[in-house]
Amino acid sequence: EKEKDFEGKKVLITAGPTREPLDPVRYITNRSSGKMGYEIAKAFVERGARVVLVSGPTHIDIPKGVTFIPVETAADMYNAVMMHLEEADIIVGAAAVADYRPKEVKKEKIKKDEETMVIELVKNPDIMYEVGQKKGNKISVGFAAETENLIDYAKKKLKEKNMDLIVANDVSQEGAGFEVDTNIIKVINKDLEVKEYPMMTKREAAHVILDEIAKLL
Ligand code: PMT
Repeated sequence: EKEKDFEGKKVLITAGPTREPLDPVRYITNRSSGKMGYEIAKAFVERGARVVLVSGPTHIDIPKGVTFIPVETAADMYNAVMMHLEEADIIVGAAAVADYRPKEVKKEKIKKDEETMVIELVKNPDIMYEVGQKKGNKISVGFAAETENLIDYAKKKLKEKNMDLIVANDVSQEGAGFEVDTNIIKVINKDLEVKEYPMMTKREAAHVILDEIAKLL
C-alpha cells in the first residue's frame, strides 16, 4: 500500500482526446486513449487526494473514487476545468486537446458532391495556458507530446504555460505516448532540470510523476 502523501489535496486532471465536430456524424480527434491521465487519477486517489477527472471520450472504466466529468470538445473541457480550478491545489493536464476545431459545424451531414474539399479550422483555447495565468500558488503539471526536439519544445511549453513541471514523451518512440500501456517519460522542472526514466507501465509512470509533484508540496 502506498503512503497517503496527498491526503487533503484537491487535484484536477484532464485526460483523453477531444472531439471537434464537423457535422452531425463526423469529428476531428487524435489517438489519445486516456490511459496516462486515468493512471494519474488512480495514483492520486491511492495516495489520498480528492480527484476531479475531466475526460474526453475514452473506452476505459471510470476510476473508483473520482468525481468524473465527461466532455467532448476542447471548449467543453476548458469550461469544466475553469469551473473546478479555484478549489484545486494541483492541476495535471494529460489530455491531448485538439489545437484547432472546424470553424463551422454544419447542421446537416456534409454531402460528397465535390472532388476536393477544404475545411477551415480555428484555434481552440489553450486550457493549461489559462491555468498558468490564473493559478496563483497552485501547482500545474503539463505534458508535452512531441515527435522531434522533445526537450526543447517541452521546456518552451513549460515556460509559456507557467507550469511547475512538464512530462515530456516522444510519441514516435515504440512503447511511449498514445494508446500503449507503457510510456517513456522525461520530467522537467522549473529550473529546467531534466530527469529521464526508462520504459515503464503508465501506472508506474504515474507514481513517478506523483513523486516529483510531492517534492513541490
Ligand atoms: O491518452 P494516452 O493514449 O495514454 O496517451 C498519453 C498522451 C500521449 C496523450 C499523454 O502522455 C500526453 O502527452 N498528453 C498531452 C498531449 C498533448 O496534447 O500535448 P501538447 O504538447 O499538444 O500540449 C502541451 C500541454 O498543454 C498538455 O498538458 C496539454 O494537455 C495542454 N493543452 C494543449 C492544447 C490546448 N488547447 N489546451 C491544453 O491544455
